[in-house]
Parts: sequence; structure tokens; C-alpha cells
Amino acid sequence: MDFIKLEISDGIALVTVDRQSKLNALNDQVLQELETCFMELRDNADVRVIILTGAGKKAFVAGADIGQFPDMSADDAEQFSKRGQAVFDVVEKSRKPVLAAVNGFALGGGCELAMACHLRYASDNAQFGLPEVKLGVIAGFGGTQRLPLLVGTGRALDILLSGRMVDAEEAKTIGLVNGVCNQAELLETVIEKAKVLMQQAPLAQSYTLQSVYAGIGQDMETGLNMEVQAFREVFDTEDRVEGSQAFLDRRKPNFRNR
Ligand code: COA
Repeated sequence: MDFIKLEISDGIALVTVDRQSKLNALNDQVLQELETCFMELRDNADVRVIILTGAGKKAFVAGADIGQFPDMSADDAEQFSKRGQAVFDVVEKSRKPVLAAVNGFALGGGCELAMACHLRYASDNAQFGLPEVKLGVIAGFGGTQRLPLLVGTGRALDILLSGRMVDAEEAKTIGLVNGVCNQAELLETVIEKAKVLMQQAPLAQSYTLQSVYAGIGQDMETGLNMEVQAFREVFDTEDRVEGSQAFLDRRKPNFRNR
């Protein structure tokens, strides 16, 4: 792969978008490599948690590649939007927790990619935004849907209609990120968060992700019924037996992803 770097160590996969000459902007090839990478990670039994970041100190991902826009017809744009959404869907549908380490600009498709991750941590220099209106287009990789879910419709519309940037502190205040730290400590901080997640039961986390995301957009009754089914299924796992028994034995559980 040219633009996606993957390092796996002690159960943690570190995925880095590395196209620094264009601030890690997403062209067709980057999207393809990102999808391939996440599909491989889904099937890799050595991987428990995934961290996604951008190469360099300036950008997480500065958006979809604007260089592709001038030659695009409306039909091409439809395909591009569907393609970006499909790739981000693979990220969001990961049943292993995905943590974004947002180390700089997360604009347009970069902000949308971070929002497709399950948790987001930002360095203090990070800048978020959906500046598509400045280009005469709209957010097309899920931004109009995921931003309102994370920050509420009013705040989302302020960001989407103005195209303004949101700094890391504001992102924390409005719930767009889970935490902020200084840039030098970002990766270390996110790895520590990943290690905490790795101590919990993997299948319970998988069912939690499934239940939360399946419930979005559903009415409460449908969502609660899906939760019942997930609760039932997780009770059929060996790790559920181990978790309860370890608590009763006053020892740390040894989860085996079964
Ligand atoms: N698509 C394509 N190229 C991009 C890009 C994008 N989304 N974002 C940055 N780049 C490229 C620049 O064109 C420049 O390339 P060049 O050196 O070949 O000219 C390089 O990355 C560095 O960016 P530059 O604009 O010179 O850096 P800066 O520090 O002055 O500004 C940003 C940084 C992020 C504010 C600015 O690059 C920007 O506004 N990018 C576009 C963000 C955006 O609108 N994203 C949504 C797209 S739908």
C-alpha cells in the first residue's frame, strides 16, 4: 500500500493515512487502501483494537481530494459520495473498537472519517470542520448525518452552514471528541485508552457496538428489542461465564474472545 501504513503490536493496530504532500487528503486510491486495510483487520485474530491517525504533525486528513472535483460530473459525484460512505461504513461497522487520534486538521472527509470511528481523541492543535459550503458543495461522506448525532442538530448546522473550523477545546465541549491532549502525547494517550478497552470482554464490546449502531434511527421499542437479542446472544459466550465467575472468585477475568 502507498498511502496507508499499518503496524500491529500487542493487539493494537495502528493505521496511518500517509499522504503528507496533500495533508493526507483522500483520493480514490487512499479510500481503496483504507477499505482493504480495515477488511484485513476485521479478519485478523491478533488485533483487538484499532487506532487511526494521520502522518505528520499538521493533519489527520484535510478532506476529500479537491483536485478530483473539477473533472467530476454529477454522476461521478454520486459515485464518489457513495464510495466514501461505503468505506467509512466499513470503519464504523468494525466490531473491534476504532479510536481516532486526530493530530491536526480534520476537515471535510477527514472530519467525517473521524466521526465514523467509535471514539475520538484530539491533539490541542487539531482543527475540525466541514468547510464544503466554501467550495459550493456539501459534506458527502456522512457528515450531514453523523455530526448531528454527535453534537445535536443546532450545533451541527452552525458548523455545516458556516464551514467554520472548530478547535480541539470546542470539539471537546460539544462532544465531538472524547478527549484532548498535547500533540507530543497524543499517540501515547490513545494507546493507553486502547489498553483499557483491551482488558474488557471483546465479544461484549462487539455486541455493544452492534446494538448502539443498529439502534440509531430506530424507534425506542425497536432499539430495545435489538438490545434484548444482543443481551441474549452474549449470554451464550464463554467469556460471559468467565466474567461472572472471575468477579465471584475476586480475580481478573481471562477473556478469550469466545
Ligand atoms: N485536497 C487536495 N489537496 C489538498 C487538500 C484537499 N482537501 N488539503 C490540502 N491540500 C494540499 C494543498 O493543495 C497543498 O498542495 P500543494 O503544495 O501541491 O499546493 C498541500 O496540501 C498543503 O496545503 P496548504 O493549503 O498549502 O496548507 P496550509 O497550511 O496553507 O492550509 C488547510 C491548510 C488545511 C487550511 C488548507 O489546505 C485547506 O483549506 N484544505 C482544504 C480543506 C477542505 O476544504 N477540505 C474539504 C474538502 S471537501
